[in-house]
Amino acid sequence: MELQEKLDAFQQYIDAEEKIEPKDWMPDEYRRHCIRQISQHAHSEVIGMQPEGNWITRAPTLRAKKILLAKIQDEGGHGLYLYSAAETLGISRDEMIRQLHEGKAKYSSVFNYPTLNWADIGAIGWLVDGAAVTNQLSLRRTSYGPYSRAMLRICNEESFHQRQGYEIMTKMANGTPEQRRMAQDALDRWWWPALMMFGPHDNNSPRTYNGIVWKIKRAGNDELRQRFIDKTVPQAEFLGLKIPDPQLQWNEATGHYETGEINWDEFHRVISGDGPCNRQRMEHHKRVHEEGAWVREAAEAFARRRKAENLTEAIA
Ligand code: 3HC
Repeated sequence: MELQEKLDAFQQYIDAEEKIEPKDWMPDEYRRHCIRQISQHAHSEVIGMQPEGNWITRAPTLRAKKILLAKIQDEGGHGLYLYSAAETLGISRDEMIRQLHEGKAKYSSVFNYPTLNWADIGAIGWLVDGAAVTNQLSLRRTSYGPYSRAMLRICNEESFHQRQGYEIMTKMANGTPEQRRMAQDALDRWWWPALMMFGPHDNNSPRTYNGIVWKIKRAGNDELRQRFIDKTVPQAEFLGLKIPDPQLQWNEATGHYETGEINWDEFHRVISGDGPCNRQRMEHHKRVHEEGAWVREAAEAFARRRKAENLTEAIA
């Protein structure tokens, strides 16, 4: 088939809501787009373990510690699903890690902010995981099969992450005046970085067009951000906390909240490496990756020996 015929057949397959599988023919740009988005999603899951990991030893109760440990372990698993999904497109884990370490691949901007106290752990679960699950529920219908199946598994766990964060915020908002102040302060610091997770406005989003045509993304950045805002503002009101946006107002005619403008200078500063914790996050990831080299070498040696043993048995 000529290339154009292949491209037309591919688009018809996508438009028929079929899933693209690893062995299917796909345009190089579709492959590159999926590799980029899935690997950056995986990096986000793993880097996102750092800000919360700082609070495992400082959790206020054994129950809180167990929940936080389970959540962070889930995030590592999400990273594993997503790196494995990206590998089906022909990129190696080592190459993805190299791109991350060399600044050629991104991870979600939100993880470049510090976690200053326990209320931040509540705000991250409620807002950051809440934003992530809003995005990921939409991605369950993404056209690339392995990514879609990863999302189905991840979304189940992400909803628990959001609920455990909201539980922390509920306890603190109904606690002592100092705990209430901490909950409001955490909301003040995490609200706008959570909105930035959905990316630039669609009219400023270089990847959204292809993403939507190829059904890699099933909704634009602004639509998903609006879904999150409409869901989260009533939750803040229920807690008696104030969203840090003086322009926030309900629009009866549209049935949506209207908000002030995101600080896009801050967004571009953070995603280009100049956020409060970018350097710390990357140094930690590089150091721990180095320290873990022996585990990878041992696992690979074991796999080689098992393969040799199986081969010997097969020949015998
Ligand atoms: N942080 C970092 N980079 C971002 C970003 C953000 N919040 N928003 C956009 N970008 C980057 C994009 O990756 C793209 O960079 P690239 O061209 O180098 O790849 C550039 O800015 C332009 O943005 P676009 O809107 O054109 O890019 P996309 O169409 O890909 O949209 C996205 C960006 C919404 C993040 C999309 O890639 C996406 O939906 N990704 C999958 C979901 C994801 O990665 N979520 C991470 C959240 S963290 C998480 O899930 C962990 C959970 O446990 C909390």
